Order: sequence, then structure tokens, then C-alpha cells
Amino acid sequence: MKDRYNREIDYLRVSVTQRCNLNCIYCGKSDCGKKQTELSLDEIARLVRAFALCGIHKVRVTGGEPLVRRDVTEIVERIAATPGIETVGLTTNGVLLEQYAAPLAKAGLQSVNISLDSTDGSTYRHLTGADVLGRVLRGIDEAQNAGLSPIKLNAVLMKGVNADSAPALVHLAETKPIDVRFIELMPFAENGDADQLRVTGDELLRQFPFLQPVESAENGTAVYYAAPGFLGRVGLISPVSHPFCDRCRRVRLLCDGTLKPCLAFDKTYDLKPYFNDDAALVAAIRDCIMQKPAGHAFQTAPPHHGLNRTGG
Ligand code: 5AD
Repeated sequence: MKDRYNREIDYLRVSVTQRCNLNCIYCGKSDCGKKQTELSLDEIARLVRAFALCGIHKVRVTGGEPLVRRDVTEIVERIAATPGIETVGLTTNGVLLEQYAAPLAKAGLQSVNISLDSTDGSTYRHLTGADVLGRVLRGIDEAQNAGLSPIKLNAVLMKGVNADSAPALVHLAETKPIDVRFIELMPFAENGDADQLRVTGDELLRQFPFLQPVESAENGTAVYYAAPGFLGRVGLISPVSHPFCDRCRRVRLLCDGTLKPCLAFDKTYDLKPYFNDDAALVAAIRDCIMQKPAGHAFQTAPPHHGLNRTGG
């Protein structure tokens, strides 16, 4: 369906848990370990059915870290089997991907986005709080073996933390048929001084002048670049320096059954009162989509909740 700014809203991100098995700097002081209310498998399936009736065709399963939920394979299977849902993707930190990639592909998962903020072991450990880079790299290989496609790697660069990992990450896009996407650090009240830490897309283009824009069929959040001989692409996602709110097609279902029309505002709409009435649920979802703001206000009014709560 169209929202009040004539944007086609056809993309739902479903956060299935707030729990996470990493503790990354950009999520801020977080409650990664704590178990909050989580929607059940049946509730998720029912909600996604209602969203499909509102024009959602594309679903991405997120968290927290979605793979810490034991029933994540069933969740993907039920979403993929929902009439009207054409693609199902997953965003993960990759720690558990080695064991889940094949069963998820079998359950109907098509694509996967994996957070990889450094390929240097000690930088990775410093940033995430865990010594698991090897497992994540094996998880990426397993995703390729399982036929998941596309596979995209997400990196959030921070000055003085992992900005020096950029060349090795660009090299990955050169040598593997994988897209490596640099996401500008977004400010959340929880994650401190984002403006000082942020590496912008324009800074990266100056650092890697050989990167040339490439045509992309996707009209998503990333602008893609490559150079002769590259097997993959480098994507720049620049929500702060070059907002793409006018092209935003997504809303976010949080793991407590609330719907968040925009990542950049704390406002959520509770869908729980309508769980047992499909018509009321559809009406509530439509109302919420109509409340989606025109754009973010990161610079003047950063939201409080980071992506561990909202679902990357
Ligand atoms: N700014 C930008 N990206 C972020 N992510 C998490 N926190 C932030 C932030 N503050 C990214 C993660 C993950 C994706 C879902 O969101 O790196 O890849």
C-alpha cells in the first residue's frame, strides 16, 4: 500500500528477538543478553499474513540476533509459505550461520546480510566483545555453499575503532562475488558520540578513488561501486549524509508485537490488542503505515533505541 507521502510500503522487517550473542560498540550500552517478550511462531505467522494483505511482499528476519531463537528455521518456513510473500531474507551477525545456513535455505530463505565490521581478529574482538571472527567467516562460506543469494556483508566503520579495516573489506569485494556495504554510523542516544566516529560514504570514495559507480537494478538503500576485475561490489549506505527517506519502503515489526513505522523515531504502535481479529489487525497496520514520518531527524532529535532493539 502507499503511505501518505506516496511511498509504496512493501517491505517488512521482523525482529524475532532482542537477544544477541555479541555486544557491539555501535549498539551502545545494551541489554543484549536479556530475554524480553518475544512473539511466538504462530503470532509471527499470523501477523505476516495480515501484513501480506496490506501489500507487503518482502520480509527480512532480524533481531537482536535472529539465529539465537531456536525456532528460527520454522519462522522462516512459515513466512516463506505465506501467500503474497515473495522474498525472505535474514540479517545476522553470522556467529551461528555455519550450522543454520543449509536448513534455512531449505526452509525458503533466499538471501542473507551478514555484519562483518572487520576481518582483523583483534579489531573484531574489540568491536563485538567476542573472539568469533573465524566462525563468522566459516558462516559466510556456508551461506555460499547453501546457495543463499545475494550475500551481502554490512560494515559500520568508526574512526579509531575499525576504520582501518576498510581496505581489507574492499579487498573482499574484489576477490569474492559478494557485496560489501559500508553503513554510516547512525546516532542513537545510547551509542554516544556518533558524529565524531562516523566515516561517511564520501570519505570512502576519496579513500578508494578507483571505485566507479555501477548500474544497479535495485532501487534500495545502497549505491553500488566497483572497479575493473572486481567479483563483487562495494555498496555505500549513507542515511546520515545522503538520506534516502523518500525511497523508504519499509516498516518494522518488533519482537514485542509493536510496529515501528520509522527507525529514526521511538514511536511504536501496539498490534497486540488486534491479534485475534484479522480485519482489525489489517486496519491497525494500515493506520500505522499512514503515520510513517516523511524523514528522519537524526541531527536534531536522535532516537533512543539502537538497532539491537529495533532490528537492523
Ligand atoms: N548505525 C549504522 N548501522 C548500524 N548497525 C547497527 N547499529 C548501527 C548504527 N548505529 C548495523 C549493523 C548490522 C545492520 C543490521 O545494522 O552493522 O549490519
